[in-house]
Formats: sequence, structure tokens, C-alpha cells
Amino acid sequence: AAAEKGGFASFMEKEVHDQPAAVADTLLGRSDSAGRLTLDELRIDPGQLKRVKKIIVLACGTSAYAGSVAKYAIESWCRIPVEVELSHEFRYREPIVDADTLVVSISQSGETMDTLMAVRYAKEQGAKTLSICNTNGSTIPRESDAVLYTHAGPEIAVASTKAFLAQIVATYILGLYLASLRGNLFTGQIRDIMADLNKIPGKITDILDREDEIKELARSMKDEASVLFLGRHVGYPVAMEGALKLKEIAYIHAEGFAAGELKHGPIALIDDGQPVFVVVPSKRGRDSLHAKVVSNIQEVRARGAKTLVIAEEGDEAVREYSEFVFYVPETPTLLMPLLTVVPLQIFACELASAKGYDVDQPRNLAKSVTVE
Ligand code: G6P
Repeated sequence: AAAEKGGFASFMEKEVHDQPAAVADTLLGRSDSAGRLTLDELRIDPGQLKRVKKIIVLACGTSAYAGSVAKYAIESWCRIPVEVELSHEFRYREPIVDADTLVVSISQSGETMDTLMAVRYAKEQGAKTLSICNTNGSTIPRESDAVLYTHAGPEIAVASTKAFLAQIVATYILGLYLASLRGNLFTGQIRDIMADLNKIPGKITDILDREDEIKELARSMKDEASVLFLGRHVGYPVAMEGALKLKEIAYIHAEGFAAGELKHGPIALIDDGQPVFVVVPSKRGRDSLHAKVVSNIQEVRARGAKTLVIAEEGDEAVREYSEFVFYVPETPTLLMPLLTVVPLQIFACELASAKGYDVDQPRNLAKSVTVE
């Protein structure tokens, strides 16, 4: 078993380190140098995809946060409304679905019962169904009209890491493909975004090379009772995912919030020494959001919070308000989640290990929930 973990202490740690390859392999062979996307494997008529008026993303757990990230990118590139819904909520609320709806399910295992049932329901209502899945030949892709496989390789640890990154990449490829079909983006623009995506594996490697910074922080926090996570725009689902990782494997109370909601409740939780992670948006191109999140950092700090910041390289503005800063390499805003989530995964994994927990097999959880 030690050999299977590639020298790492756990599968989770190994899978975190597999992420540069998971992203690269999911991108591989899906575009040419001119920026033309080749998605022949999709098995869905391009004419039908062109007519899509609404996208509904269905998933559970970490896969649903990949969907929440995708919403920002797909709406921005394709100008199609995207709803993200937990599979188990979708089926019980008379959702509005028709032949012009594209239902995109996201599932690492392809066997999550609630997601499967939601896909079946959508199909019965006449929607086109597309599965983003990491497991070849599993049930959800078999029952869907179309499939886009993620190539993260087998994921063993219960807490999902590399599949999450690969899912985001796959939804982005889908978004760019739709944008090209519908003429929302020029081929040159798609080529540039694909080039930026192709730089992500190297940037993740850069983060992994500096993982000791975050591991040291994690070990120093092993006796914390609660950790909060704030994020905005694409950083919001990243904050949610950071909190989920900590709950799942370290059994610490953790909650993610949209930074803009701070004054509507979460700020009441802040008292002396409360750790708060803040995922800060890039300064370039989104100055106003950046400034707002920096002022959120000041607000929680003024109330005693211990501020732990994930920011973009070169962002000096956050330093004076932060107990701790981890910098990720510069990257376009929509691609940021592929980097900012990595330190949060490492944090949870290291903290859980420091507590002596089995990070691969957390109590009460299963890798794939095949019952309703
Ligand atoms: C379980 C796993 C999670 C996963 C979720 C959805 O809760 O522990 O890691 O995100 O199921 O699984 P799926 O296979 O559908 O992506």
C-alpha cells in the first residue's frame, strides 16, 4: 500500500500532488494550437447544443462546488443562464426543464444515487443530459446523452481533491466549446484561454513546492475548535470547499461564507482569536472586488479575528491586515479557483494528520453515496 501512495503518507496527500497531472491530462487532446476544440466524444448534436437556453448543473458535495465555480465562467463566456442545484433538492421541487435545457451532471464516481435519479428525472422531462465524470463506464455517463470524462485518474481518498480540479477544467472546456458553437467568443480568445489553462499545472507545482508554509500553519492550528472561510465571486465556492475539506477529515467546525454576507450574520461569530481564511480576488481587472474583500479582512481583524489570507502574487495590500498570507501565482480571475483551493486542501490534510486522524477514511463518510 505504501508504494500505491507513491511515498506519501496518505492517498489524499498523493492525490493533492497528482493535481498538475490531473489538470494536464484533462486538457490533453481537446484543442488544437489554433484554439479549435475537438469534443467528438461528446456524442451530442452541435445543433442541439446551439439552441440551449438554460444550463442546470446537478451534483453533490465537492462536485457541486465545481459546478458553482463553472457558473461564473460559463455565464461569462456563453451568456447562457446557469443554475447550480444539489441533486437531492432538484428532484423534489418541480424544476422547470424542457428540450432547450442542458442538464450537466458532475460526479467523480458516476454512481451517486441522488445525482443519478436527478439525471433520470431531467431526461424524462425532455432535457438533454451531459455527464462530467471521472469513472469510465459508470452509471451516470451510461444513462446520459453525452459525456465529457475528466482524466484525474482513480481517486481513492474519500475527500475529493484532484477530481475537483479536473471537474472545473472539464466544465471550462465545455463552456468554451459552447461559446465557440454559439459565436460568443472568437477562436483567438478561446486559444488564449486554453493557453492560460495549459499554464495551470506548472502553477500548481509552484504551490506544491511551497506547501511547507501552509503545513506549518496547519500544525500550529490543530487545537482550534472552529475555522471560518470567506470568499467572493469565484472565491466563494472555494471558501465553501475549503470549509468542507476541514469538516470532512479534521472534524472541526468550519463554515464558508460569501464575503459580501459578512454584515448579514457571520461577523457576529467573530471574537478574539477566531481564525478566518479569506480568499482574495485578483487585483487586476477587478479592482473594486479586491478592495471590498480587503476591507472585509480589516473588519474581521478589528474584531479580533486571526486573518489567514490566500492572495495573488504581488498583492501587497493584504499584508498589513494578515496574520498569515499564502501567495498563489498570477492567473486570470476565472482560473483562480484551480490555484486558490490547493493551499486549503493541504491545510485540511495536514491538520487532520497532525490530529492523528486517518485522512483517507474519515469517520461516517463514504467515497460514493449510492443510497438516497
Ligand atoms: C461523497 C464524497 C465526496 C464527493 C461526493 C459526490 O460525499 O465523500 O468527496 O464530493 O460524494 O460524489 P461524486 O462521486 O458524485 O462526485
